[in-house]
Amino acid sequence: MCGITGYIGSGDAVEIAINNLKRLEYRGYDSAGVAFPDTNSVSILRAPGKIVNLEALLSGASEHKHVAIAHTRWATHGRPCEANAHPHRDCTGQLAVVHNGIIENYAELRRELIAKGHEFASDTDTEVFAHLIEEMCELEKGCDKTEGVANAIRKALHLVKGSYALAVISQSAPDTVFVARKESPLIIGLGDGENFIGSDIPAVMRYTRKVLLLEDGDFAILTPNSVTLTDFEGAPVHREILDITWDDTAAEKGGHAHFMIKEIYENPRTVRETLRGRLMDDGEIVLPSLPFSPEQWQKFRRISIVACGTAYHAGVVGKMFFEQILRRPVEVNVASEYRYSDPILDEETLVVLISQSGETADTLAAMREAQHKGATTLAIVNVVGSTLARDADAVLLTQAGPEIGVASTKAYLAQLTALYLLGLYLAKHDNSGRANLTEVEYREYVAALRELPSQIEGILKEEATYALLAEELAKHHCFFFLGRRYDFAASLEAALKLKEISYIHAEAYPAGEMKHGPLALVEPGVAIVGFCTQPDTNEKMVSNLKEVKARDATIITLLLEGAETPDCSDFTLRVPVTKEAFMPLVSMVPMQLLAYHVARVLGCEIDQPRNLAKSVTVE
Ligand code: G6P
Repeated sequence: MCGITGYIGSGDAVEIAINNLKRLEYRGYDSAGVAFPDTNSVSILRAPGKIVNLEALLSGASEHKHVAIAHTRWATHGRPCEANAHPHRDCTGQLAVVHNGIIENYAELRRELIAKGHEFASDTDTEVFAHLIEEMCELEKGCDKTEGVANAIRKALHLVKGSYALAVISQSAPDTVFVARKESPLIIGLGDGENFIGSDIPAVMRYTRKVLLLEDGDFAILTPNSVTLTDFEGAPVHREILDITWDDTAAEKGGHAHFMIKEIYENPRTVRETLRGRLMDDGEIVLPSLPFSPEQWQKFRRISIVACGTAYHAGVVGKMFFEQILRRPVEVNVASEYRYSDPILDEETLVVLISQSGETADTLAAMREAQHKGATTLAIVNVVGSTLARDADAVLLTQAGPEIGVASTKAYLAQLTALYLLGLYLAKHDNSGRANLTEVEYREYVAALRELPSQIEGILKEEATYALLAEELAKHHCFFFLGRRYDFAASLEAALKLKEISYIHAEAYPAGEMKHGPLALVEPGVAIVGFCTQPDTNEKMVSNLKEVKARDATIITLLLEGAETPDCSDFTLRVPVTKEAFMPLVSMVPMQLLAYHVARVLGCEIDQPRNLAKSVTVE
């Protein structure tokens, strides 16, 4: 995920901005850059790869400047390279911008600006900001002064749809940094005769512990001695100054004890970002990155989903959902087994590869096997520029941002969101008569998708309940996670989460299978988590739970809000109601919280569990 820093004051601005940028390296990035006002125009220095590559470009020209903005880029629009790295300038070189977020209407704005004679130097959505502000400056005819530039930026912001943390410097206002925030984080660090900007608090903590947290719709004008806060109309806004008392390590984790819990809290944003620009206001789903026309889509008679670990579990949900609404055969495969099983593939097969990193060796091998056999490959992947993203025939990016905790959390929700979008899009455009999705059902799904982020936020507010329950559950030596249909798919990932970070043996089973063997293991000290979110099978599910209760296991039921509590339940968790197919996404948030807190109670190494790696690049 992109990182922004900036400085204004009497210090060496470029050096300070780059030092602070290094504090954002943990977010992951593919290139870095810095801009500062120079003799006649704004200078920019940019380099692909690590920040050291950018530092190698610094020279006398960049020393002793008093204003700078800097950026680490995590590619979304346009491949990682020097030209696409930030900052971006306007045609005149008089202003430079850095941006974190996604501009949804950039293609349309870019077309309009090109028609007006603007020349673009990159493939990014961000560059639109630079030219749009330039255009507004021309209309303003007063951009030689700070207020004129501020007005031009505010006008540009009104034309842009999407999310942004934006910083701008202009040759016309050389002692000023302008910033704006909408749905992407940005903070201001307050110094003595100097001020800072950063994507998060750790970025400025080396220099100051007094910060202003910008909120959506905030616009700020920074000089060395002042910060003027307004809304996008120019009306004054007040934000309290926060005194930061965290130590440095806690700060990197946003004040959380571990990356895993920080990332669990990023779930709502992840779902929002994965929907952004794809689920339109009128309910249409657009997937511009898919190169198939509705006609071409008809040629795929079969779908084969391939992935590892958590991504495989997302694939299990994908198979169920695709079969339900597309009525085409869909299989789901563990990547490490795939190519040795001599899979039946041809030109009429679509192979969907799911991966957070895009570098998992087995998933890459599966892609090569599929391509070799003439199938079309579609990657659902989080890391832009990864091998999978580069080499698959089509790419649907998840927008989870970097995931640091080895146990995958927000990436699972992003993968599910992408699969739901893909399934609905394909069913909507199916003209073979096979798809099973009425317009009314489609609208219901779309409405439910929009609800997901706020539903997850509601679950996160209950974190204390999970922390408390974890104290009890940590005493158990074995867990079974049981469910039927979509609940079974969810239970697979829930069991993985618990076992990988708490080292307690945990297994997922289709609830009806328990009596075919695993019931023999049930005894006191065994905990059973029963997922009861699928109304059609709930009664049977409760009967299965009674069977295990009779063997003295502890029963934890996951119930829909408002549902009756079965009398066999020792502990009850509630999740909001959504479409049955979306339940694994919602249910996973309490399961992640529970796994996290059980591991915390047991004192486990949460972010880096023993024997496990984040990205498995060997077979
Ligand atoms: C490792 C990670 C898991 C991940 C799996 C697949 O096992 O620890 O969190 O789900 O690899 O990785 P991928 O990057 O392909 O999604």
